[in-house]
Amino acid sequence: MPEIVLQATGLAKAFAAPAGLLPVLTAVSLEVRAGESVSIRGSSGSGKTTLLQLLGGLDVPDAGEVRVACEGALVAPRRRLGRGVGFVFQNYQLMPELTALENVALAARIVGVPAAAATAAARELLGLVGLAARADHLPSRLSGGECQRVALARALVNRPAVLLADEPTGNLDERTAEEIMRLLLDVVAARGLALVLVTHSREFAERASRRLVLSGGVLSPA
Ligand SMILES: Nc1ncnc2c1ncn2[C@@H]1O[C@H](COP(=O)(O)OP(=O)(O)OP(=O)(O)O)[C@@H](O)[C@H]1O
Ligand SMILES: [Mg+2]
Repeated sequence: MPEIVLQATGLAKAFAAPAGLLPVLTAVSLEVRAGESVSIRGSSGSGKTTLLQLLGGLDVPDAGEVRVACEGALVAPRRRLGRGVGFVFQNYQLMPELTALENVALAARIVGVPAAAATAAARELLGLVGLAARADHLPSRLSGGECQRVALARALVNRPAVLLADEPTGNLDERTAEEIMRLLLDVVAARGLALVLVTHSREFAERASRRLVLSGGVLSPA
């Protein structure tokens, strides 16, 4: 059986609200293995984004713990910020003043990759996502689908074991959404990565090897 690359145990998270603490996640446990894709659906406000942020170490749980694969061991994601997991967001989250190439290379530079190697890796990945000819464009000169391709290249540049995608096609028209989803699933399969895909689309959710629903603060099979 493939190795576990992401392990969450007993995650709980509440936020302060005017009426008191708002519990969002109460007891979320999840194990994802290399090569596995897991989709998560759930109504708006059910905590999907909150969960992905905990899985990627962008926020910390009130209780429970997260471990991600790193050089053969499972470690806390914060120790691997920028590595271990790659993020793809609904609104791309590209730096507007940087070109496509610079956006991808920056993610590698941040974790200490020298400039020349970061640029070379970025160029190769822009080729992989079909954007070699757009490497020097600013995000404002790219379509939404092209921006999401750049974001996917950026998510891959530090060779994560897991991709976390939060409604990656939420801002795209139907045809472009299909292209991006196919690219995402192809890249994950070709590289043996694990994918956690948050989506409102039943059709896209069904393409994952495992389908979950987040409701009432817990994950359960769809
Ligand atoms: N930083 C925060 N401070 C206070 N409340 C928050 C914070 N982040 C999220 N929440 C609340 O937590 C709940 C879950 O939010 P979250 O963004 O995780 O939902 P979601 O399932 O991703 O929704 P959507 O499908 O609309 O993206 C919401 O009620 C939201 O208002
Ligand atoms: Mg969300």
